[in-house]
Amino acid sequence: FRRLGLRGMKQRLLVVANRLPVSANRRGEDQWSLEISAGGLVSALLGVKDVDAKWIGWAGVNVPDEVGQRALTRALAEKRCIPVFLDEEIVHQYYNGYCNNILWPLFHYLGLPQEDRLATTRNFESQFDAYKRANQMFADVVYQHYQEGDVIWCHDYHLMFLPKCLKDHDSNMKVGWFLHTPFPSSEIYRTLPSRLELLRSVLCADLVGFHTYDYARHFVSACTRILGLEGTPEGVEDQGRLTRVAAFPIGIDSDRFKRALELPAVKRHISELTQRFAGRKVMLGVDRLDMIKGIPQKILAFEKFLEENPDWNDKVVLLQIAVPTRTDVPEYQKLTSQVHEIVGRINGRFGTLTAVPIHHLDRSLDFHALCALYAVTDVALVTSLRDGMNLVSYEYVACQGSKKGVLILSEFAGAAQSLGAGAILVNPWNITEVADSVRHALTMSSDEREKRHRHNYAHVTTHTAQDWAENFVCELNDTVAEAQLRTRQ
Ligand code: G6P
Repeated sequence: FRRLGLRGMKQRLLVVANRLPVSANRRGEDQWSLEISAGGLVSALLGVKDVDAKWIGWAGVNVPDEVGQRALTRALAEKRCIPVFLDEEIVHQYYNGYCNNILWPLFHYLGLPQEDRLATTRNFESQFDAYKRANQMFADVVYQHYQEGDVIWCHDYHLMFLPKCLKDHDSNMKVGWFLHTPFPSSEIYRTLPSRLELLRSVLCADLVGFHTYDYARHFVSACTRILGLEGTPEGVEDQGRLTRVAAFPIGIDSDRFKRALELPAVKRHISELTQRFAGRKVMLGVDRLDMIKGIPQKILAFEKFLEENPDWNDKVVLLQIAVPTRTDVPEYQKLTSQVHEIVGRINGRFGTLTAVPIHHLDRSLDFHALCALYAVTDVALVTSLRDGMNLVSYEYVACQGSKKGVLILSEFAGAAQSLGAGAILVNPWNITEVADSVRHALTMSSDEREKRHRHNYAHVTTHTAQDWAENFVCELNDTVAEAQLRTRQ
């Protein structure tokens, strides 16, 4: 982090994301228990040296009383986290409504609400107002903690209005915004009623980052087509002011996974799982139970494989871990029942008295159990219909050092651009193609597996989350320094 040191001082970084990297449980009037939930962003920032990072976000719980809020603020401070308190009404309108029912599906090419989701369209304006109010609440907390020279790194589609709030308050703030989802083609994006306001706000940032060049290109062409601005190789220019736009593909902390595989607890899990599934090939899916993950399509493809390859019945099992998410949004509730219905039908059809082809779990696994599963399985099926990056594919590769399992990967996940040469790429909508890829993966020669794995392993272990965070923050510092130089000249 050589470029970040400020005369020997650590660079201060305020990370602003909708959700804090903790799960908070209330244990009494002024007692909270906190557990760090280590996602990609958390491990990226934990690994970054010479930076003094604090995290600002929502703790995911409603805390209406001041005693509770003060206690939670104190507890979070020990984890370098600062809470933004959102009441139930705003969570309903901003998080469940505008973020998860409008922006999320649109950015993943599922379009704006239709038919029974039309009720949401009628509430569109009030939800967008709530979105802006919520973004302003995040901004208010940033102001309270901001010191001159801080880097403010805003994350994701929840906070597209934040760069504007921050720059309106103090135009000297160094503001970066990074999108973790795809940015869709401008033909999709332009259907969004609030398309102008959101683009104009994001352009207030000094640096705008995406996982892939395609997403960055879509963003620039949305600015060109919708706002009439000029796109340059550096970004987007508006009346002489440049917003730098670039791709920063995220990675994982691969060492953390490699170290975990050496732990006795993980080794125990591995030997239990190996015994449990002895004599059968094991395929793995790990996804949040979200429509973008293509879980029903994946299971239907597996059914087609079983149908067409009766010699594999009873010799292969699919373990699908479906982590419940956004359970207050009706679309997600419907998806849960749909998946249960399909799994039940297929297990009824192909199961025997002693075994079923699909083990479906509606819950998350702890880190050790997950690493063991990654290590013992022969094939991973990552068949998202759209996905910003998809780090499950990276985690699987990191844990397959000895087994060299096969990754079947959707061509619509950002990860396809980095792991495409080692994975079997599929169109997740084409069930026949996915079923054929399953057969290819299960029967692949060890030479081919080894070669494919080597490619992906090299990528995953050299493009880490730490590199990602360092590159983004360095680029943001450089962009601001260059802009200051230009104004002085
Ligand atoms: C995606 C988003 C993240 C979000 C995560 C979990 O990966 O890009 O911003 O935190 O899903 O979703 P949730 O709604 O539970 O925060």
